[in-house]
Amino acid sequence: MKVTAILLAAGQGTRMKSDLPKVLHPVLGQPMIWHALEAVKQAASETPVVVVGHGAEKVTDYVGASARTVVQDPQLGTAHAVIQATPLLRGTGGLVLVCYADMPLLRGETLARLVEKQKANRGPFSMLTVFNDDPHGFGRIVRAADGTVQAIVEEYVATEEQKRIKELNVGAYCFHADWLWDALALIEKNPHKGEYYLTDAVEVAVKAGLPIQAEVMEDAKEAIGVNTRVHLSEVEAEMRRRVNESHMLNGVTLIDPASTYIEIGVKVGRDTVVWPNTYLHGKTEIGEGNVIGPNTIIRDSKIGNHCKVLASVLEGALLEDDVDMGPFARLRKGARLGNHVHMGNFGEVKDSYLHDGVKMGHFSYIGNADIGAETNIGAGTITCNYDGEKKHPTTIGEDVFIGSDTMLVAPLTIGDGARTGAGSVVTKDVPPDTLVAGVPARAIKKLEKKRHKT
Ligand code: UD1
Ligand code: CA
Repeated sequence: MKVTAILLAAGQGTRMKSDLPKVLHPVLGQPMIWHALEAVKQAASETPVVVVGHGAEKVTDYVGASARTVVQDPQLGTAHAVIQATPLLRGTGGLVLVCYADMPLLRGETLARLVEKQKANRGPFSMLTVFNDDPHGFGRIVRAADGTVQAIVEEYVATEEQKRIKELNVGAYCFHADWLWDALALIEKNPHKGEYYLTDAVEVAVKAGLPIQAEVMEDAKEAIGVNTRVHLSEVEAEMRRRVNESHMLNGVTLIDPASTYIEIGVKVGRDTVVWPNTYLHGKTEIGEGNVIGPNTIIRDSKIGNHCKVLASVLEGALLEDDVDMGPFARLRKGARLGNHVHMGNFGEVKDSYLHDGVKMGHFSYIGNADIGAETNIGAGTITCNYDGEKKHPTTIGEDVFIGSDTMLVAPLTIGDGARTGAGSVVTKDVPPDTLVAGVPARAIKKLEKKRHKT
C-alpha cells in the first residue's frame, strides 16, 4: 500500500529566539529536518511532502530533491498546514503519515509500527501516544472503555482531572487518505487560538462513530519536541548517547562517552579506542585498532589502521596505516601522511604528501610539498611556499635529511639523499646526494649515496 509522509515545518519556532528556521538547527551535525526525513523514509513509500512557511526559502533549499515542498502562508495551525498538501496528494489514495519536523529523536521503526497499526484499523486513523510523568505542554489522550481514542485535550483547555492524564499526544498520525481530505474541511477554527488544529480530526471521527487507534511508544525520549534551546540540548545529548552506544556495540572503546562527540555518519572501526574530549565530525572514516585522543578534533578525514592521534586537529586529511602524530599537530586540507609517518608536536601540514616513514618531529610547516619516503624533516623547517601572490611547490626526494631551521624557498626540488645544514636558506634546486648549507645555501660537498631501498 502506498504511504506518503507529510512533515510539518512551517511554524515560526518563536521560542528558539533565532534567525535560523527551527528545523534547520543541527542535532549531532545534521539539521532537525534531516532526522525527520530519515525517519519517515523507513515508514513511507513515496517522496515526502514538507510544509514550509517561516524561513520557507532556506528550508526548501536545504531539502532539495529529497522532498516536495508546499508553502503555508499565513500559518493558521497544524490542520491548515496539512491542507496545503491537498493539491499534491488528494486522490492519490493509500495512507498519509503526518509528523512534526521538530522531533529528531522519533525513530523510523516507531513510525513504521504506527503505519502497521493503521493498516489493521478499520477506522480512519491511528496516532502515536506516550506515557510520561511530566506531561507539561502536551495534549492529553482521553480514551473510551474499549481503548479507542475519544479526544485530545490541549493543556490550556484541560480540566484538573484531564491534566492528570499521563498518556500524551506525540504528534504523529497515520490517516486513511480518502478520509483525511474531507475530514480536514470539517475542522473548525479553534475558538481560543484562532487556528485550525489537526488534533480536532479526532472529534470529526468520533462524531461519525469511527474508531481511532493509539500506538503507545515505549521510549518516551522519542517524543521530545524541540521548542526551545533547552530542548535542543536535551535532544542533542540523547542522540549523542544513542550514536555512541551503537559504536560501542560495534566494537569501539569509548573511554568516556559523555565527553565524546561523534557525528551521524562518522565511521569507526573495531578495536579503535577513543579517549575523552574527542570530536569526530562530518565525513570522517576511521579504521581499526587506532588510538584517538584525548583532546582531538577530526573533520572530514580518513584514517587507516593502527594509528595514534594525540591532542591534534585534522581537517580534510588522510592518514594511511601506523601513523603516529601529536601532541599538538595540525593537518589541514589535502594533507596525506603515508604508512609509519611520525609527526610530532607543533607541526602543520597542508596540501602535501609525506610518503612512508617520513619523520617530522618538531615545529615545522609543510605546504604544497611532496616528501619522499624515509626523509627526515629537522626541527623548525619551513616550506616558504607563498611569495605574497602565488603558492609554489616543494619536492623533496627520498632519504633526505633537512637540517634544523631550514627555510625551503619554493619552487624547489631537492634530490634523493641530499642534506641541508642547520639554518640554511635554500633558494636553488639541490642535486641528489649533495650537502648544501648557508644563507643562501651553496653546495658544500658530494655525499656517499645511501638509500633505505637497496
Ligand atoms: C502539538 C499538538 C499537541 C502535542 C504536541 C507534541 C496540536 C494542536 N497540538 O502541540 O497535542 O502534544 O504537538 O509536541 O497539534 N506547524 C505548521 N504550521 C502551523 C502550525 C504548526 O507547520 O500553522 C508545525 C510546526 O512547525 C511544528 C508542528 O507543526 O513542527 C507542531 O506545532 P507546535 O506549535 O509546536 O505544536 P505544539 O503546541 O507543540
Ligand atoms: Ca511543538
